Amino acid sequence: MIGKTMEKALNEQIREELGSAYLYLAMAAYFHDQNLPGMARWMEIQVEEEFQHALRIFRHLVERGGRVKLEALPEPKFEWPSPAEAWKAAYEHERYISSRIHKLMELARQERDYPAEVMLQWFVSEQVEEEDQTRRIVEMLERIGESGRGLLWLDKELGKRGREEGKEEE
Ligand code: FEO
Repeated sequence: MIGKTMEKALNEQIREELGSAYLYLAMAAYFHDQNLPGMARWMEIQVEEEFQHALRIFRHLVERGGRVKLEALPEPKFEWPSPAEAWKAAYEHERYISSRIHKLMELARQERDYPAEVMLQWFVSEQVEEEDQTRRIVEMLERIGESGRGLLWLDKELGKRGREEGKEEE
């Protein structure tokens, strides 16, 4: 049975993962509005991944006799100054999520909650990937600068993102 402190912390992380989905859905809507369908598609797929992250923690809590308590989600932003600024915000958000995962890992170790530690290990690796993906896009946009052509090329590239089938079952 999971301890109360860990239960509370994991419920908060469910909120953070669903909050990430909500934020990226807002970004997808913004990219659609900017006529950047590839970036919008990339974000729509990310929304699905974030939901799977929330579900992973949800299932862990259920399996360990914990009680899931869903919390209110913050309202995401509606507008960004530019597509590049939106991607920067996505990268910063992933860094924030990584810091939260690391704190959860510290808590699991403190509480000697080994099952939580194993579950969180997946998230530690996942965050390396999530930060890397968004950081690369930010860097590409920095190189592209004001070039409209470059932006359209990147939009096309990002629109090729496929769903990673079975990833949530890893
Ligand atoms: Fe679930 Fe993008 O962190």
